[in-house]
Amino acid sequence: MKRRKILVTGAKGQIGSELVPLLREKYGEESVISSDIKPREEGDAPYELLDVTDGKKLAEVVDKHNIGIVYHMAAILSAAGEKNPQLAWKVNVGGLYNVLEVAREKGLERVFIPSSIAAFGPETPRVNTPQDTVLKPRTIYGVSKVVGERLGEYYFWKYGLDVRGVRYPGIISSKTLPGGGTTDYAVEIFYEALKHRKYTAFLKPETRLPMMYMPDCLKATLMLMEAPLDNLKHHTDFNVAGMSFSVEELAMEIKKRIPDFEITYEPDYRQAIADSWPESVDDSAAREEWGWSPDYDLPSMVDDMLEKLRKKLGV
Ligand code: SER
Repeated sequence: MKRRKILVTGAKGQIGSELVPLLREKYGEESVISSDIKPREEGDAPYELLDVTDGKKLAEVVDKHNIGIVYHMAAILSAAGEKNPQLAWKVNVGGLYNVLEVAREKGLERVFIPSSIAAFGPETPRVNTPQDTVLKPRTIYGVSKVVGERLGEYYFWKYGLDVRGVRYPGIISSKTLPGGGTTDYAVEIFYEALKHRKYTAFLKPETRLPMMYMPDCLKATLMLMEAPLDNLKHHTDFNVAGMSFSVEELAMEIKKRIPDFEITYEPDYRQAIADSWPESVDDSAAREEWGWSPDYDLPSMVDDMLEKLRKKLGV
């Protein structure tokens, strides 16, 4: 039988745009179908225009390309979700349900559904947040992530569908900007530091959140997807730690390399979201069950981000 292919939803997003080239490099160009609601870009093939809330189209794409594995990256992030909770529910829960249903009906081999530190809430222990703990998020994004974790796990126990996922921290990357998240400041700050030598943060200086550099995000995603199923006690909700820093600490680290950089603070509605999330997470389950460990800490991430963005921006 011909080997079944991989579908990536939300392929034009922050993570999808780096995951697709990596998967194509690993499994071959033709084996990885990228899809998004945005039009195809030059050189991006095979490609499908796909809105994940359209379950019928999703099923057609899966049939057309003989899909066996889905990386379901399409989602509305935390800050954008608070602006339009109804849309966030439709995309995050409706889209996920469509993916799981298609996977069940068509007997797909494996599905990746990302969760987030947003699954936690103000009642969760904030420092070194345990793997298995209180999940009472206050954002619609967080609510949709808890639903995703539980629903994915349900499909595993009920239908034997191999569903896997990690709780991503804030992801920092140089290729594609994140859109509509609370941790977006940690990417914007680099562009502004290089272009204008100043940045106004929308969070308070002491706000500390779990973060991860893109190479570690991709590494965690592929490591979990390749882990032997028998080793997994958890499936859809692994804590994964990269680094943890406050806004002020990131600014200081940038200032060490760009001495005239200045930061000011104008916290907005996103402060309440950040305040409801952990400062750091305990990822011992991911370490034990599939050998997780990150490569980047704060200084090495800042060095690499500045090098990549200097080239990209020509500054
Ligand atoms: N980066 C995401 C957000 O801020 C967290 O998963 O919404």
